[in-house]
Amino acid sequence: MRRSIREVQAYKDRGEKFAMITAYDYPSAKLVDEAGVPLILVGDSLGMVVLGYDSTIPVTMEDIIHHTSAVVRGAKSAIVVADMPFMSYQVSPEEALRNAGRLMKETGATAVKLEGGAVMAPTVAKIVQAGIPVMGHVGLTPQSVNQLGGYKLQGTTPRAAVQILTDAAALQDAGAFAVVLETIPARLGKLISQRLTIPTIGIGAGRGCDGQVQVFHDLLGLYEDFKPRHARRYAELGVAIREATARYIEDVREGSFPGEAESFRVDPAKLKEVETLVYRGAGSSQAAQQMAE
Ligand code: KIV
Repeated sequence: MRRSIREVQAYKDRGEKFAMITAYDYPSAKLVDEAGVPLILVGDSLGMVVLGYDSTIPVTMEDIIHHTSAVVRGAKSAIVVADMPFMSYQVSPEEALRNAGRLMKETGATAVKLEGGAVMAPTVAKIVQAGIPVMGHVGLTPQSVNQLGGYKLQGTTPRAAVQILTDAAALQDAGAFAVVLETIPARLGKLISQRLTIPTIGIGAGRGCDGQVQVFHDLLGLYEDFKPRHARRYAELGVAIREATARYIEDVREGSFPGEAESFRVDPAKLKEVETLVYRGAGSSQAAQQMAE
């Protein structure tokens, strides 16, 4: 059975830390779900780690719908949050609601996430009023990378820090059930987490956050173009995949793959039938005999 959004608040109320991880397809969702992660985010980071773009800007509604549907099929227990892509919610609260509704109806996600602070509060309120749980996202908001001038630490001046706190509080007041804090000083992450009653989920925001989120590919060494400072590598799957593929290539080249275990034999009882139906010309018995060997 799928977990409920209320469990996320319960973590904070109990003072229990929790993890969220991104996933973008059926097998990865199934694996992280089986590992017990309570929250999966189908982040628009898929634009970079799955689709090979250099930012999240080109990601479309169709991309998120396609990938979230696969994740929902793979994850039986985790809450699945679909990220709203750039320009799917910025134009007007009405358009945002329409797109949030599409994500819910067409994917089976439990909630949506969108970036932005106080300015997005009316949009968050509108979506929440329609019965759709919303996760906020402040601090470094990658869809605004061109305005921010790069993927830089945010909230480094007192004024900027207060703005991030104000933004997070505005999202809470608008009805968001949780808020992601990205790439801000750890002290600020802790302060915001203490001030808010809803859970904060940090990524590069220190251990004082209520939960943590990481990108699947960063944790598992699958995206080697860039390693963010906030990510810890729990596995080197990129290395493992290259090594395994090289072994496969070599086995094919030297003729040791496929072997007995990977080959199929004809049932001897059926051999006669095969002989009659398929091999009619000269040498048919010999060919059929070879198939059985
Ligand atoms: O798109 C994403 O993966 C995200 C996380 C980094 C929070 O927004």
